[in-house]
Amino acid sequence: KKGNYDHFMQKEIHEQPHSLTTTMRGRLRDNDVVLGGLKVHLKTIRHSRRIIFIGCGTSYNAALAARPFLEELSGIPVAMELASDLLDRQGPIYREDTAVFVSQSGETADTLLALEYALENGALCVGITNTVGSTLARKTHCGVHINAGCEIGVASTKAYTSQIVVMVMVALAIGADKISTQSKRDAIINALHDLPNQVSEVLKLDSEMKDLAESLIETQSLLVFGRGYNYATALEGALKVKEVALMHSEGMLAGEMKHGPLALVDETLPIIVIATRDACFSKQQSVIQQLHARKGRLIVMCSNGDVSSVCPSGSCRVIEVPQVADCLQPVINIVPLQLLAYHLTVLRGYDVDQPRNLAKSVTTQ
Ligand code: UD1
Ligand code: M6R
Repeated sequence: KKGNYDHFMQKEIHEQPHSLTTTMRGRLRDNDVVLGGLKVHLKTIRHSRRIIFIGCGTSYNAALAARPFLEELSGIPVAMELASDLLDRQGPIYREDTAVFVSQSGETADTLLALEYALENGALCVGITNTVGSTLARKTHCGVHINAGCEIGVASTKAYTSQIVVMVMVALAIGADKISTQSKRDAIINALHDLPNQVSEVLKLDSEMKDLAESLIETQSLLVFGRGYNYATALEGALKVKEVALMHSEGMLAGEMKHGPLALVDETLPIIVIATRDACFSKQQSVIQQLHARKGRLIVMCSNGDVSSVCPSGSCRVIEVPQVADCLQPVINIVPLQLLAYHLTVLRGYDVDQPRNLAKSVTTQ
């Protein structure tokens, strides 16, 4: 079943051009997106007071990646909830809310309990899952299957990128009644058509990521700084590293750097800064300068051809990735970090597909 690959995680990372193609199959038209499962509910969603994304782990991160675009296209406030935290707080949910539950397996206990809670409170409940017939798919009012194909590695990879693409399509469908965003929507639909090709391009960084992993084998800790569309990439990249490579790693919002994390910076701690081109680019350039001034050990992810703009001194390590539409850039940017986590795990001699203490689906609280 692993074909030419040594591990399922490796196979699933490299399969992403294909899984993204199946996620979009039959759903993208020239100027339109058709999501059969949401069609009759779009009007209700457009009238909701708030959209709340609810999930755990990687599924939460995927929703966080899609949030800025959904807010931009819908104009509806989008709240984020980790399922367990929503339950702990018994946070308020109303009839006027649309609650969107994101879960690869559709069987995560906290997510399902949060679903029961939202149903009791009268919200419209939408599911986004990879598993047809799962409890989530059955108990939500409506939803979208991500159709990424079976994911076996405990570390979620291809489901993450397909979840983001589905949520971008959901945003396009919700925003379809607005003339003011039509040209932006057309541009994103075009970019979605080309996304699998761009993912194939970024996968060519495999051996470069293996080299980078070799240089990091002995480090104790790794920080990842992102913001805007790529705040989620920082959280998800760090989650992959800690989950499979068993290395301490934290994803951080770059805008919070001066409020604490800066104290950690020295010549030894590796810091990945995500600085691909988008509205936050100049802010990330200044973050890089400030880290550089403190002799930080920098690894910068930038758009192709941008090396001299992100690292004028030539002293940092650079990962160059293809540039795509801003809301799709998280799909590209996570791939080198998935590859890095994979190679770090193999080089450190740990179990890639079955990390210690973890289960693929967390069905108990
Ligand atoms: C559906 C078919 C697909 C077919 C296509 C043709 C299924 C599973 N999918 O895809 O095989 O090629 O029509 O038009 O039969 N749902 C939930 N909660 C969730 C996920 C989904 O309630 O978490 C519901 C949806 O609202 C929908 C149904 O499940 O009623 C199928 O969803 P989805 O597979 O995303 O729909 P299509 O893409 O239209
Ligand atoms: O099946 P789900 O998407 O609901 O799972 C949620 C998390 O348990 C899951 O994403 C977990 O964080 C992964 N192992 C991360 O790779």
